[in-house]
Amino acid sequence: MTMPRAEITGWGKYLPTKILTNDDLAKMVDTNDEWIIARTGIKERRIRADTDTTTSMGCAAARDAMAVAGLTAADLDLIVVANSSPDYLLPASANLIQHELGATCPALTLAAGCSGWIYSLVTASQFIQTGAYKNIVVIGVELISYAIDYTDRSTCVLFGDAAAAVVIQPGTTDAGIMAFELGSDGGHAHHLMVPGGGTRKPMSQDVVDKREMYIRMNGQEVFKFATRKLSSCLKNIAASAGMTPADLDLIIPHQANLRIIEYAANLLQLPMDKFFVNLHKYGNTSTASIPLALVEAIQEGRLKAGDVTGMVAFGSGLSWAGAVIKMGEAVNKVTAKLEPASAAIPS
Ligand SMILES: CC(C)(COP(=O)(O)OP(=O)(O)OC[C@H]1O[C@@H](n2cnc3c(N)ncnc32)[C@H](O)[C@@H]1OP(=O)(O)O)[C@@H](O)C(=O)NCCC(=O)NCCS
Repeated sequence: MTMPRAEITGWGKYLPTKILTNDDLAKMVDTNDEWIIARTGIKERRIRADTDTTTSMGCAAARDAMAVAGLTAADLDLIVVANSSPDYLLPASANLIQHELGATCPALTLAAGCSGWIYSLVTASQFIQTGAYKNIVVIGVELISYAIDYTDRSTCVLFGDAAAAVVIQPGTTDAGIMAFELGSDGGHAHHLMVPGGGTRKPMSQDVVDKREMYIRMNGQEVFKFATRKLSSCLKNIAASAGMTPADLDLIIPHQANLRIIEYAANLLQLPMDKFFVNLHKYGNTSTASIPLALVEAIQEGRLKAGDVTGMVAFGSGLSWAGAVIKMGEAVNKVTAKLEPASAAIPS
């Protein structure tokens, strides 16, 4: 008996309406629009409103994805949520999202930094392949702004808030997840971390005074790791699918920094138009980055039935994750049309 592949049959996103531009940031820290665009490619990012919570944003994206797939909450067999910015330390994000959606199925939260959504997708797909579950929603939601120090110019320009989700179901054709790679290098965890507020250094006045409840990052080390992993993981997952990176119809890289993507494109000797880019609009939205790019690629008609996409994420851990997916007939029922993301890529 052949195992079914996990096919993407629904997709949705939620973006807070508040926009934080480079000029806004220049009023907060010693930076400017030219520096941010030249070094990162980011023009603006979204920041949650007070009414936006991890639960509300995750639910909004999930509802859209379920509507596209024609599923109600009662149909769901599992909810997987990639998230590192929960509403509360306890309970986990997935349980609150499950309740708010009106679902009765199990719900699990997975934290693997910015690689978390691909980790979640691959984890969820195992339940599809074994036949245990049929209807799974996989959400990436991050209100990363809560962990950003808006007095630290080396990090605050990079990140934004967003949520995106897909529904996966057993495919009846060869569409679905063809190959994946998951990776972890915990020995380099210190390059990207929130040092205070966990059990190692519980929240205290000292943590607050030293601003240790915010993300600390060694940007250059993360940059080197990211470029290396983006190219090597892409080669590995393409090979596992019997392809080369050049054979992929579209590459969806983690939307962290345009220079990281350009560097990897150069290493792989691939043209930039093979890479989907929307980071100029949203910055790095952590676990929401890959699904948000995937959703917009589908909505813009960049992925048609039969197309094969390779997605690679990297992030805290340090971790990385990649997957090759063949799109099925579902993507042909796209209704929403967006401005092509490429139209606004800073030159
Ligand atoms: C953070 C990052 C954009 C910095 O770019 P960079 O080209 O490596 O810049 P450097 O760190 O070498 O800093 C160069 C100078 O710019 C300054 N600088 C840093 N941030 C700045 C900002 N927002 N505006 C103006 N100047 C800034 C630095 O202080 C430094 O000044 P100095 O030369 O006087 O010391 C880049 O390293 C990066 O993107 N790293 C990966 C980060 C990432 O993707 N993290 C998330 C992974 S999930």
